[in-house]
Formats: sequence, structure tokens, C-alpha cells
Amino acid sequence: MLDTKFWHRYFQVYDVLNMVIPYQELLVSVCDELEIKSGERILEAGSGTGNLALKIKERGGAPVGIDMSQEGISIHKKKDPGTEVVLGNLTDKLPFQDNSFDKICSNNTLYAIPRDKRGSVMKEFYRILKPGGKVVISNIIDSFSPFAIYREHISKEFKRNGLVYVLRNILKFIKPTIKMFYYNHLIRKEHGDGDFDFFKEGEQKKLLEENGFGNISDEKKVYAGQAVLTSAYKI
Ligand SMILES: C[S@@+](CC[C@H](N)C(=O)[O-])C[C@H]1O[C@@H](n2cnc3c(N)ncnc32)[C@H](O)[C@@H]1O
Repeated sequence: MLDTKFWHRYFQVYDVLNMVIPYQELLVSVCDELEIKSGERILEAGSGTGNLALKIKERGGAPVGIDMSQEGISIHKKKDPGTEVVLGNLTDKLPFQDNSFDKICSNNTLYAIPRDKRGSVMKEFYRILKPGGKVVISNIIDSFSPFAIYREHISKEFKRNGLVYVLRNILKFIKPTIKMFYYNHLIRKEHGDGDFDFFKEGEQKKLLEENGFGNISDEKKVYAGQAVLTSAYKI
């Protein structure tokens, strides 16, 4: 059983991602696609340690997070004590009223939910979104290679800051990266299914279509080509 100490350590390591250029760019892509207007109430489903919620706030939105991890929520609240975030499982009925959000986003979370439960999560998103509201989802794809992300990071860092900086930076990365792989291995073992259900090509679009959303965008490659981002509207 993975205890609270484990999750605390996991999320501490998770936040090393904030130094990774493709991850920073991924959060920017989600925010760009959201087309945030001042004061808009935006649900971030699977808000983790709050990295995306904080970006939404910087752009003038009013994020509301939901996550099943109390540890993630505690770290999020440390970063932003005033934040609105609730503890909850996305596979349950969501603790929000019908038509209560201007927009909804979810980044790298749905892949952790078994395929057969994703449709009901989408139906809940549809219920709580205002008519005309936009949903933006992005998820890791099934050909996922974490090395592609680090390769792109190193290449961009090299162009920005030169070789010495890159070498120093790699040393900083090695330990948390190894830890992250190890923790992911423990999580997968705990779940007993051996792997996450990463997204297949076209699957994200189909999921939105099957659950009533319209004006669905094409799938855009993000996160150094290791994830796809799709948006749609409640019509
Ligand atoms: C990889 S993290 C992504 C966090 C954040 N969205 C980001 O972009 O950095 C996935 C998050 O989804 C949460 N999560 C996974 N399955 C969930 C579920 N069924 N209900 C609620 N949260 C879930 C995990 O606790 C974790 O915080």
C-alpha cells in the first residue's frame, strides 16, 4: 500500500517537471487553447500540485481544482493558499452544479483512468459545463517516450544557455528523473494493471464526440510530441 509519505515524495519529485521546457510549453499550450478571459471559472480536473491552475490564474482565470490526492492538494495549497480545490475522484459524480463552469481542462490525468470509465467522466464534464463552454484535454500517447521530452529539453536549453549550463542542468535532473521512473513503477505495480492506458491516435477526439461535445478540434501534438491536445464545445 502506498502511504501518504510515498505520495508526498512522489509529488515533490513531480514538481521537478517545472524545470523541463516541454512541460512548461505544454501548460502554455493548454492555457492558449483555453482562450482564458478575465474571471472565467475554469475547472482543472486532476489538478495535482497545481502547476496548471497557477498558470490559469496568472492569465486572469478563476481556476477550481479537483484531485483524488490529498498530498497533491496540500502542495498546491502551499503554493497558493487562496486556491479553490476539492478532494474528489473524477470517476464519481462531480461535486459541482449543472452548467457551473465557463471552461474545463484536464492535463495528463485521463490516461490514469481506465478506458471503460472515461465516457462517464466526459458526461460529467458535459453536465457541469455551461452551454457554449469549452473543454480542453491533453494526454500522453501510447507511443510515449520520456526520453523524447528530455532530448527536446536539452536541445532547447543548449540553444538558450549554452553547453556549460546544460551539463550542470543534467546533473540536477538525473536523481529526480531516476526517482520518478521508480515511483511510476511502484504506482503501476500497486494498480496491478502493469501500465497506464495511454491514448491511441484519434481516441481523444472520439471520446469527446461520443459524449455530446461539438466543434471538436484536430488532435494537436504537444509535450515534445508525446501527448495530444484536443478541444471541443458544449453545443
Ligand atoms: C500526472 S498528474 C497531472 C497533474 C496536473 N494536471 C499537471 O498538469 O501537472 C495526474 C493527477 O491526476 C490525479 N488523478 C488521477 N486519477 C484521478 C481520478 N480518478 N480522480 C481525480 N484525480 C485523479 C492524480 O492524483 C494526479 O494528481
